[in-house]
Amino acid sequence: MKAGVFDSGVGGLTVVKSLLASGIFEEIIYYGDTARVPYGIKDKNTIIRYSLEALEFFKNFDIDIMITACNSVSAYAIKELQQSAPFPVTGVINPGVLALKNKIKDKDSSILILGTNATIKSGKYERVLKSHGFTNINSITPSLFVPIVEEGLFCGEVLDTTIKHYFKNTPTPDAIILGCTHFPLIGKPIQDYFHTSTMIHSGDAVVEYLIKEYNLSKKYSDTAITFFASENPDGLKKVAKNWLDLS
Ligand code: DGL
Repeated sequence: MKAGVFDSGVGGLTVVKSLLASGIFEEIIYYGDTARVPYGIKDKNTIIRYSLEALEFFKNFDIDIMITACNSVSAYAIKELQQSAPFPVTGVINPGVLALKNKIKDKDSSILILGTNATIKSGKYERVLKSHGFTNINSITPSLFVPIVEEGLFCGEVLDTTIKHYFKNTPTPDAIILGCTHFPLIGKPIQDYFHTSTMIHSGDAVVEYLIKEYNLSKKYSDTAITFFASENPDGLKKVAKNWLDLS
């Protein structure tokens, strides 16, 4: 089984990390639209247009499934991608909510969604959560987290100050959805701030979903991966080496 993983840039590597650990794919083709990142500040039509262009890229490969690691794409462009793609397309939002549902049984539990402006503005997490009976939902757009992660500031003063800045008026939730590719890299400091034990990571959620939905299992101890980027592919490969501990 061969997967195409699409993201606006390097962030989707957090999803790749989970996919590599799962051993469910023989091969992964990764494409990051590094020339046009960030998507999270763009509007719906632009995100749909860019996503359909990425789909054309993946049509050059014999992939069995396309995974949009980017939450902003998952928020706005899944329907359009599914309508145009010759292979199945899955985003990370439905899998994320299903993973949450498996962990949190009380529908009155307080859920905090963290995402980009596009993801939160789309209201998609909220709609899907409500369709599963959750009612106590709060969302925040901590936009500075994305550049902070890209700077590699996974801990320390800058991150701590920024966490306080965004969360100072937020009551401790029962569960947090890390609704942006970058946020799992600072999941631990966010968790330490709130002392919330349930955190939803898009990568782990999508693995859980794929295993169930497509009846996949851990078959491959080594997944071949090829990286493509619309700009500076060497930069992307360097980040991949770092974040994924590739040799
Ligand atoms: N990949 C984006 C997401 O998960 C974050 C970075 C961006 O804004 O492009 O929403």
